Amino acid sequence: MNPPLRALLSDPMTWLLTGGAGYIGAHVIRALQDSGRDVVVLDDLSTGIASRVPQGVPLVVGSLSDRALVEQALREYAVTGVVHLAAKKAVGESVERPLWYYRENVDGILSLLEAMQTTGVTNIVYSSSAAVYGQPATSPVAESDPTVPLSPYGETKLIGEWAVRDVAHVSELSWVSLRYFNVAGTASVDLADTSVANLIPIVLRSLSDERPATVFGDDYPTPDGTCLRDYIHAADLATAHAAAADVTEAGGAAEVVNIGTGQGSSVIEVLQSVGRAVGGDVPYEIVERRAGDPAELVAAADRAGSVLGWNAVKSLDDMTASAARAAGLA
Ligand code: WQD
Repeated sequence: MNPPLRALLSDPMTWLLTGGAGYIGAHVIRALQDSGRDVVVLDDLSTGIASRVPQGVPLVVGSLSDRALVEQALREYAVTGVVHLAAKKAVGESVERPLWYYRENVDGILSLLEAMQTTGVTNIVYSSSAAVYGQPATSPVAESDPTVPLSPYGETKLIGEWAVRDVAHVSELSWVSLRYFNVAGTASVDLADTSVANLIPIVLRSLSDERPATVFGDDYPTPDGTCLRDYIHAADLATAHAAAADVTEAGGAAEVVNIGTGQGSSVIEVLQSVGRAVGGDVPYEIVERRAGDPAELVAAADRAGSVLGWNAVKSLDDMTASAARAAGLA
């Protein structure tokens, strides 16, 4: 039954979003609500922002390591499924502080799975990352391709996938792991990514500061020499979670799914798109390659279509235009 129809006929399902006060979580809340589900957020507010959680959505402030708190939230709100977004996600930081990443990300998923087992919650949508592929030998990269992460961040995400899969082997757990590619853009100004950690926010910041953007290398084996990535709009990513929730609720799901558009865009193409968004050229300079960057990281997106019945609908220009508006530059 489609979710809005089910909501009319019976009590809506309630999903817990760990990390729901983050940039991606805020988008996922809206998509789950639009699909007819009730939502509860658990967030330690270390990087999340409480005002991103809409009125009427309970916000439990605390850590996944607090098992009693997690179990209480699962019971109190009669949670039927969990979207697990809460994690540390900066690649460079993970290289510098591996133990912290293992503690936060691996302990986080293990603690959550234990709490779910104790309380009988059997549906999970797990946030994974294209970082699990490392430098893929082929492009586009498919879910069945080798996973060789190049950072503790990518390793912790892969360990989380394994933990979910292995628990499901010996329980009723129904699961979908979503490997996000490069998430960008915003559904509205108030949900925007406030960190300046990825290419589009970094370029917008350089425009605000009247500095040239920095392009990390133009001698890659790609059409214009700059790296290709698969940029995916946060609003599209969010609807993929609702589709994944449907699939897990149907029971017995055990799926790893790339979430991208299947289209690669080069760094120069991103700068051109930002230029269209702000109505002017984006000055830039070419600098050395950044260590560890694969030349090309683009999703094979067909499994998302066949398994989730989902595909991205927004363009790179939608991402840059919405991010530029949120930054006050368009
Ligand atoms: C994109 C492209 C850079 C900044 C990372 C993580 C991944 C996921 C998303 C978390 C690359 C180039 C960047 C700049 C540039 N993270 N670039 N100048 O590295 O593809 O992916 O973020 O879930 O796991 O690895 O994203 O936005 O840093 O870079 O030329 O000032 O832009 O070299 O080609 P990346 P990014």
